[in-house]
Amino acid sequence: MFILLIVPNHFWFLGFLFDPHYLVNNAVANMICTLVFGHRFEYGDIHFHQMLKCSEEIFKVPATFWGRLYNQYPAIMDFLPGGHQLAFSSLDKIKKFIGEEVKRHKDDRNPSDPRDYIDCYLHEIEKQKDEGAGFTEENLLYCVVDLFGAGTETTSNSLRWAILYMAKYPEIQEKVQTEIDQMIGQNRQPSMDDRARMHFTNAVIHEVQRFGNIVPIAPPRMSNRDTTISGYKVPKGMMVVPVLKYILRDKDEYATPDKFNPEHFLDENGNFLKKENFIPFSIGKRMCPGEQLARMELFLFFTSMLQRFTFRVPEGEDPSLESLIGITCGPKPFKIYAVSRI
Ligand code: HEM
Repeated sequence: MFILLIVPNHFWFLGFLFDPHYLVNNAVANMICTLVFGHRFEYGDIHFHQMLKCSEEIFKVPATFWGRLYNQYPAIMDFLPGGHQLAFSSLDKIKKFIGEEVKRHKDDRNPSDPRDYIDCYLHEIEKQKDEGAGFTEENLLYCVVDLFGAGTETTSNSLRWAILYMAKYPEIQEKVQTEIDQMIGQNRQPSMDDRARMHFTNAVIHEVQRFGNIVPIAPPRMSNRDTTISGYKVPKGMMVVPVLKYILRDKDEYATPDKFNPEHFLDENGNFLKKENFIPFSIGKRMCPGEQLARMELFLFFTSMLQRFTFRVPEGEDPSLESLIGITCGPKPFKIYAVSRI
């Protein structure tokens, strides 16, 4: 877990404001690093921070002017300078960083005792080298880039939205903390077994994902035959872009779609209400492979943070709920107080 500023309860106004962005990013990225590289990175590791910054740039650039221009005219823009080149230089830096990890793994791995994703992939490369199954070192680099980016930006943005919503809606934060105090208390860490009994907290996490709209548009697909969807003809070979935002803000499904309201996921008895069309991880064959890990991370990080801290915005401030647009959408930079509850 990460360390937040501790300010005595009655003197929170004397504490320091801080931006939780990189603390959260670092903590979440370390989950992926543990699975993929077999180790984590310290919070003060400058080199690792640079990698996180690069990953963030890759997610931000496509929504910028330069990113859009590149998507329209890639053949020309490839040769021109501009903001879009930042995505490529960032990708190169991440690939170099991961390449070094792969080299270290090749040097000291024991094929009969794989330690992590890279060891398992190297084993597969060896096993399938004559079969042309696509297990190559180049593909390993891209798979790790994918896991690193997709597994960090999404979960980190969700948790930063969660912190911001709790600071903005203190009455909801207080209800979550009351449930944490009743179901977990202060003497042990939260565990996944707690989730089923914590209806309100679970509803709040679902509402964070719905309202935060972290991946508004899923990656494009191509139709493999002529078809008709809701009366619209979709010919074979057409690019189809699923807009998840419309489903998560469906006014037939949610009473107040444009308001942060955990009641959307509670029944009349206050029990958690599962919704079939709640699809922040998308659906179908290409849906997010990290869903289970992400759900665990969201629950454990969120409850651990609120077990120990109350988040507050500075007196008289009303933080903006506007998104920073990119492949994933997070809140605009904000500063908060984390007041110790212990
Ligand atoms: C709150 C957290 C997360 C959200 C909201 C989320 C959402 C999504 C969405 C909407 C997609 C697109 C699926 C599609 O094409 O239909 C996706 C893809 C993906 N996600 Fe996640 N994700 C999250 C966390 C994670 C984590 C923790 C990992 C890593 C373990 C991960 C790995 C991936 C990968 C590798 C893909 C690309 C799959 C492909 O190539 O088709 N995601 N995610």
